[in-house]
Order: sequence, then C-alpha cells, then structure tokens
Amino acid sequence: MSSDRAPADLLVLGASEVATPLGRGPLGGAQLGAIRVLKDGAVAIARGKIAAVGTATELAARFQADRELDAAGGTIVPGFVDAHTHPVFAGTREAEFEMRTKGATYAEIAQRGGGILSSVRGVRAASAEELLERLLVRLDRFLEHGTTTIEAKSGYGLALEDEVKCLEVLAAAARVHPVEIVPTFLGAHDYPEEFRARREQYVDLVVSEMLPRIAAERLAEYCDVFTERGFFDLDASRRILARARDLGLGLRLHADQLSGFGAAELAAEFRAASADHLEFATERGIEELARAGVIPVLCPVVPLYLRLAQEAPARRMIDAGLAPAISTDFNPGSCYLQSLPEVVSWAVLRYRMSVAEALTAATINAAASLGRADRLGTIEAGKQADLLVLDVPNHVHLAYELGRNPVATVIKAGEVVLEREPSRDPRSARGARARGEV
Ligand code: NIG
Ligand code: FE
Repeated sequence: MSSDRAPADLLVLGASEVATPLGRGPLGGAQLGAIRVLKDGAVAIARGKIAAVGTATELAARFQADRELDAAGGTIVPGFVDAHTHPVFAGTREAEFEMRTKGATYAEIAQRGGGILSSVRGVRAASAEELLERLLVRLDRFLEHGTTTIEAKSGYGLALEDEVKCLEVLAAAARVHPVEIVPTFLGAHDYPEEFRARREQYVDLVVSEMLPRIAAERLAEYCDVFTERGFFDLDASRRILARARDLGLGLRLHADQLSGFGAAELAAEFRAASADHLEFATERGIEELARAGVIPVLCPVVPLYLRLAQEAPARRMIDAGLAPAISTDFNPGSCYLQSLPEVVSWAVLRYRMSVAEALTAATINAAASLGRADRLGTIEAGKQADLLVLDVPNHVHLAYELGRNPVATVIKAGEVVLEREPSRDPRSARGARARGEV
C-alpha cells in the first residue's frame, strides 16, 4: 500500500454513475440540462466536504479512507433540496381532499372557513412540544426520500405568539435533526378569523409587530406572502415585502398560483429570491422574472392534487432563460407529499422537463433560491458532502420509476445519516450486486 495516499473519512465506491449538475449558482436555459454523468463514478469525503470526484479506480488509488461504502451498482446524486414546504402543522385535512373528489374547489373550501384556516385552528391549539414531535417525524420522512435541506414556512399561526411558536419549533428541530432547515416567516398566508372584517389591521400587525420581532430574534431568513385574489392583494403584499426587506429578510412569494394576479411582476419588482407556483404567470411576468433573476420554484404536483387544469408554463420559462427549482410544497391542504423523487417524475411528465433538467431543479437551483448554491446542490470538490446513493442503475430511473422510494443511503455533511438494507427486488441494481449476481 502506498503511504502517500491522502486521508479521507469516507469513500463511496461501486456506483454505476455519479450524476450531478455543476457550479455555484443557478443554472437556467440550456444550462439547466447540462449535468455531468460520470460512469463508474466515486466520491471521496473528508471533514464533511467533498474532497474529490472521479472514477472508483482513480479515487481508490488517491485516497486512504477510514470507511468505504459500497454503492452496489446504484447511482450517486446530490442530496435533494426542497425549496418550498409548510411542515409545521397539527392535524391533516383529508376531509377537504374528499370534498374535492366530489367536485368542490380549493377556493370554495377556503371560503367556507376550511383550507388554511382549519390548519390555523389546529396549530393554535397545539403546544410547541406537540408541534415539534410531529415535525420530527416529517423530517425523518424527508430524509428517507433523500431531502437533505428544506425551506420551511410558518403560516398556520397567524398571530404573533403562534407564528413565533412555529418558527421556534423549526429552530428546535434544526438543532437535533440532520435535515438542514431554512426558516421562512409566512404570517401573510391568510387573514385569520378575528381580522377578516379588518384586513388592513392584520397587515399593520404583520409589519409593525410580527416582522420586527422575527427579525430581531433571527427566527427567519425569508419572508413569504400569499399574493392572490381573496388573500393578500398587491398593495398589502408590497407593504409587507418592503418592511421585510428593510429588516434584512430575503423575500419569496406564492405568486400567480390560482389566478393571473401580477404577483410574478411584484416578485421581480422586489428582486425576490423566488416566485413560487406560477401556474398563471403571464408572458410579461416571465420576462420580468428573467430580467430580475428571480428563481421560479415550481410545484408540479399541486395542480394535479387540486384537480386544477392550469399548470405552470415551465418550458416557456426555461426558454426565457429562467433557472427553475422544483419542490413538493408539502402541506396538509394542497399537496400532502414529501417525496422529491416523485416531484422529479411529475416535472418530467407534466412540465415537460428532461430528467437532467429536473435533477438540476431539485438540487442546485433549489439551493440557489435559498442562498446556498456555493455550499450545496452539486457533487464537486469543496462543496459540503450532501449526497445520496439511489438504488437505481442510472439517473433516468429517478423519473422513470414511479411510486417507489429509490433512496438507499443518505449522507449529510459527510455523515451517513440513513442506510437502507439492499433491496431484494429483482429490478434493483443494489439488490443484484448485494446478491452477487453482477
Ligand atoms: O402553497 N397557497 C397557499 N399555501 C399553500 C396551501 C396551504 C394550505 O392549503 O394549507 C400552497 O398551496
Ligand atoms: Fe405553498
């Protein structure tokens, strides 16, 4: 054994390929699908970071590792980044789902006091301990499906202490769970019951009490607003966004989700980090997002889940040079889904993205929308070692196979935080290797 091999903590060997986007910023237009696929690829990890990426033969010769992990014919990809989730809630809302199966719409259910307001009742009644317990279970599920970083919104408290409670629960979870959490304040998710007849006063409360407290206590990195007909109009949204910006928060918007409302243009005006949903984005909205460099965070499963025909003009956005991210929008109302592999499939099938484009959208572009593209989202020397071994023979399988969780191993900041038994499924690359058949 040559003693001049460099020390590493972990070598991941035996993969069929490493598939990753490249770079430290958002990838738009033609760059979106330009991923690197390295056959027989391997990764060396040291002190939580990626030390090198190369073929297994190269890296085995260059590094002396404390531990070797056999990917067993699987595919290595970056840890997924979910840039839009609402994971702090108490009860579920399957009754509303069933109402929609019988023809009610999301908007009608909201008008009848269901929707977001029913989750607000649940969160207000729940203690911080209860909310934390439920959140930790959900974080486990994110990790099981390969999500190593989430953006996580408050927005079911809609009163100062209840919003603070939700953000503190997120901070408490981040201290004990390997999933990295980027907290977003969404006090402007809806008008709570007690302010329905005096909406302007709720906006006053958000700008004069909630935002200053949240900024002072550093409880959120971003502020989000549900800018939509019947929710926060353009003027109310503008007041909230301006105050959040002045307090040093980054900005995100629920934009043009249920109607063409000019919310994409508003996101561009404020140079928001992201404009999310965008099912009804207009040509002008898309042009302004492109000009302002705003990242569209698309949620392709939401219209399916709500049985709404209007989907986001994703191809048009990519043609305009935009750098979309894709996300679950995990929440108990409009999308009870935590799996980004599933979102990758539906982005390919419904939003007409290539598999490579969807992989970029679920990793580096999502990380870029959270200000973390320099550290997360690709497998390259110097980046944090957040990566997955998928139990599939190539990255195309990530979209090709629906409904099975392909995640075999999850590595977060260089630590193996989840390992599954090799599958016995005869289709499984890892299973075949583990059984000695390959
Ligand atoms: O992103 N549109 C607003 N917020 C969520 C839905 C929240 C809910 O229904 O609880 C969304 O779709
Ligand atoms: Fe949302």
